[in-house]
Amino acid sequence: MARKTEDGHEQLGALIPKEQLEQLQRQANIGAVASSVAHEFNNILMTILNFAKIGARSKDPEVVNRSFDKILSASRRAAKITTGVLALAKNRSALKETSDVASLIEEVLSVVEKDLVKHRVHLKCEFGSRPTAEVVPSQIEQVLLNLIINARQAMDRGGDMTISLRHNQRSDMVEIAIKDSGVGIPPDQLQKIFEPFFSTKDGPDETGRGGSGLGLSICREIIERHHGRIRVESRVGRGTTFTLKLPRVAVDNGAQAA
Ligand SMILES: Nc1ncnc2c1ncn2[C@@H]1O[C@H](COP(=O)(O)OP(=O)(O)OP(=O)(O)O)[C@@H](O)[C@H]1O
Ligand SMILES: [Mg+2]
Repeated sequence: MARKTEDGHEQLGALIPKEQLEQLQRQANIGAVASSVAHEFNNILMTILNFAKIGARSKDPEVVNRSFDKILSASRRAAKITTGVLALAKNRSALKETSDVASLIEEVLSVVEKDLVKHRVHLKCEFGSRPTAEVVPSQIEQVLLNLIINARQAMDRGGDMTISLRHNQRSDMVEIAIKDSGVGIPPDQLQKIFEPFFSTKDGPDETGRGGSGLGLSICREIIERHHGRIRVESRVGRGTTFTLKLPRVAVDNGAQAA
């Protein structure tokens, strides 16, 4: 069921400033993975509680040490997840920074990986190198989360997702590709998917199926603001690949934000 409400967009656009729409969309993204994050947090807390009890009861120094190790690594994992969630949810500074693009992907994955497991999505990362780009980190993370959630939603019964990263030497661009083995996009819809409010989803529900239809339009705006490109290739029944291209910036050349 495809719908497109240009009028709705104009009305909403007049009522809500663009930055706020972007912020709302960012929070909706977090909403889509919130239950998996809460569940994972609970698992981590249980681990910490259990090993705290074991350690406190034992007189054997080896058991006590092992318990502390388990508590330490569980706490570190919890801290990583909270940092990731906060980074994605907060409206942080809009200043560009020279950023390690692989780290941005990893931060998003630390939030979303349990959600992918829950939906039987098998994730593979292929990082050819770790290029840097001059970007607003929270905005690029928002784009990545959008594309990852879209890919997951396209694979109703699970499937394969590959995230690859490379530095294209010829164009000197950083290229991130997010490939899924989902339903694909019919050719007549390919031009429409970047339009605000175009969605084939039935609306938000407890399984996080989307969708306001704002995701890709905001992705495109953010990428254009970064002088980059967003491209899509898709085959119905086979899957879809979204490719982001961002101008690369060397770490040590002292380039400043535009
Ligand atoms: N990886 C994908 N595979 C198949 N179809 C996709 C994929 N990504 C996007 N689409 C199609 O493009 C449409 C628009 O995507 P967009 O992210 O803008 O909105 P949404 O996902 O429907 O809603 P929202 O992101 O606001 O929750 C989707 O409804 C879907 O039809
Ligand atoms: Mg979406």
